[in-house]
This record gives sequence, structure tokens and C-alpha cells, in this order.
Amino acid sequence: FSLKNYNTFGIEASAKQFVAVHNVAELRSILEQNKSEKKFILGGGSNMLLTKDIDALVVHIDLKGKKIIKEDDDFVWVESQAGENWHEFVLWTIDQNLGGLENMSLIPGNVGTTPVQNIGAYGTEIKDTFVSCETMAIENQEIKTFNNSACRFGYRESVFKNEAKDQYVITSVVFKLTKRNHKINISYGDISGELAKNNITNPGLKDVSNAVIAIRQSKLPDPKELGNSGSFFKNPIVLKSDFEKIHQQFPEMKYYDVSETEVKVPAGWLIEQAGFKGKRFGDAGIHKNQALVLVNYGNATGQEILDVSKTIQNTIFKTFGIHIEAEVNVI
Ligand code: EPU
Repeated sequence: FSLKNYNTFGIEASAKQFVAVHNVAELRSILEQNKSEKKFILGGGSNMLLTKDIDALVVHIDLKGKKIIKEDDDFVWVESQAGENWHEFVLWTIDQNLGGLENMSLIPGNVGTTPVQNIGAYGTEIKDTFVSCETMAIENQEIKTFNNSACRFGYRESVFKNEAKDQYVITSVVFKLTKRNHKINISYGDISGELAKNNITNPGLKDVSNAVIAIRQSKLPDPKELGNSGSFFKNPIVLKSDFEKIHQQFPEMKYYDVSETEVKVPAGWLIEQAGFKGKRFGDAGIHKNQALVLVNYGNATGQEILDVSKTIQNTIFKTFGIHIEAEVNVI
């Protein structure tokens, strides 16, 4: 079974067996019936690089549905099943004038995988509105709910990438969104400029979403047109004491304070300075508008993209003494 249409990088790789599940009962019976079989859980395929065929039963999580489950005077709790497309879900919340997800418009992938790497963009992360997610243990099919603190969220991090890795299927997620007094956040980078361009002075949720969509479309390739997985690397976090030495040598280097002792450096800047932006190696390349994004021009293999990523990592380390770590899940 070809997985080419199930990963946004558009990598050709095959699965030994493939099954899509549409509700929790189906998921349970598939897991029960295939106890001894190796399993590989697949959501929207937007954050992985397949470097080989999958010698396992691929279980594609296609659970659909979203609803309001509770509200009070100020907040609404919405629940989405894991297989809902993230961006469509965000637009649905905005249509109902619910605030909190608008800055994360147009991120590829499905709702069920958003907690795994605590997706974020333009000054917000899902941990800011995430209440809980329901999961099924792969081993014994027990249902377990993880609340916000149990998820141990960090920058592109959660328990699901660490202690709980490969043990649970996330089946639904609950977010707590504002009904009024929305916390409009336009402090990140280009958002205010984008709003000004359109003469918007008092932006609402839809305006912020539209601004984010416009910025993303201007920088980030559409996976339907050019295979990619968003940012390939995380922005490295560097100790201030180390950073000061590096900064003396490279005074133009951009950085953001993240704590008393650490700064975050934009990996896109490092990669661009190292001369990789827009470069192409066969069908694997570095996007011309955003150096943090690796792209598949058509028939690149996962291994070829991985090789390019390693070349970039080595060059960045040699040039700046900074190690950049992959954000995507390399399989
Ligand atoms: N930059 C460059 N050259 C580049 C790219 C970026 O110099 O080719 C510089 C920019 O000039 C800017 C800084 O790097 O000063 C930051 O750039 P940008 O705002 O585009 O964001 P980013 O740090 O490159 C992160 C996220 C994105 C998210 C944006 C906006 C990570 C790994 N990536 O990228 O998330 O959309 O911020 O919030 O944190 C993703 O995770 O897949 C993703 C796209």
C-alpha cells in the first residue's frame, strides 16, 4: 500500500498493511485483533519524514466530529475528534466567534497530532488553550485522559514525544476558547504590518486569521503543490553564556530571550547565512522563502532529504558552533 498521499512530504514509501479507522470502537477492535502485529499510527502525516517502507500495520486515524461540550459566560469548551483537519477546525471556531486558535491558522495536519509537538505559530501554542485529550493505549486499549499538565508541554515538545512515545493513540482533544474579551495577539513579527497594509486598526479574530494566512502563504510552500513538512528543524535554544561568545563573532545574529539564562536563535537565519536558502540537491531542497523548510520537488526519497538535513546540521555546527535538531519525526 503506497503512503505517498498520506505524508505531506509526498515521499513514496509502502506499508505492509493499511487500515483506516473511523471511530473509537473500530480503533479498539483493530488494536485487539492485531495484538501481535507491529503497528504504526498515522494521523495527518504532516510532521514526519519516511526514509523507508513501513514493515507494520499502518492504522490511519480518521475519526471525525467536533462539538461544543460546555460553556459559561466567558468560555466555551470544544471537542474535536483526532481526524479533523486542523485548519478547518480553526476556521469553524472562528466562524462561531470563539477565540484562541486564530494565530495558528493554516497549519497543516490533523487535530489529533497537535498535542504531540505542541504546535505553535505567531505567538501562540496549543498549550495555551488545550484542556485535555483522550487517548487509547495501544497495548491494552484502556482509555486515558491527559490534562494540560500531564502532557508536559514545552517548545515543540510533549510527553507524547518522550515517556509516552508510541504508547497511545490520541482520539480527541478539548480546547477552552474565549466567547468574549478575546485576547487578540498581534505582537509577533509581521502580523501588525499585514493588518496595516489592509488598513485594519481594530482587528477581530477573522482579521488575525486572515493576516496569518497571508503571511504563511507568502513564505511557506503549500504541501499540495510542493511536498514539505513545515519547519524541518527546531529553533535552537542556547545558553546566554555561550551565546554571548557566538554573538561577538556574528553580531547580526537574531535571537529572542526565552529565560533568564537562555536565548532562542532562529534556525532559518542560520541556514540562510550558511548559504542554503533556495539550494537544490536533486529533488530535495531548501525552500526559497523560508530556509527552515525542506522540500521535495517530486521524487526525492526520504533518505535524500535526511542527507540534506544532515549536511545543513553539520555546516551550521561548523560555522556557528550551534547544534540544530530536527523537528519532524524521522522514520
Ligand atoms: N529567518 C531568516 N531566513 C529564513 C527564515 C527566517 O533570516 O529563511 C529569520 C526571519 O527574518 C526572522 C526569524 O528568522 O527574523 C524568524 O522567522 P519566522 O517568523 O518566519 O519564524 P521561524 O522562527 O522561522 C517559527 C516556527 C514556525 C512558525 C513561525 C511563526 C519553529 C521551528 N518554527 O519559524 O512553525 O510558523 O515561527 O510563528 O518554531 C512549523 O513548526 O512547522 C512552523 C512552520
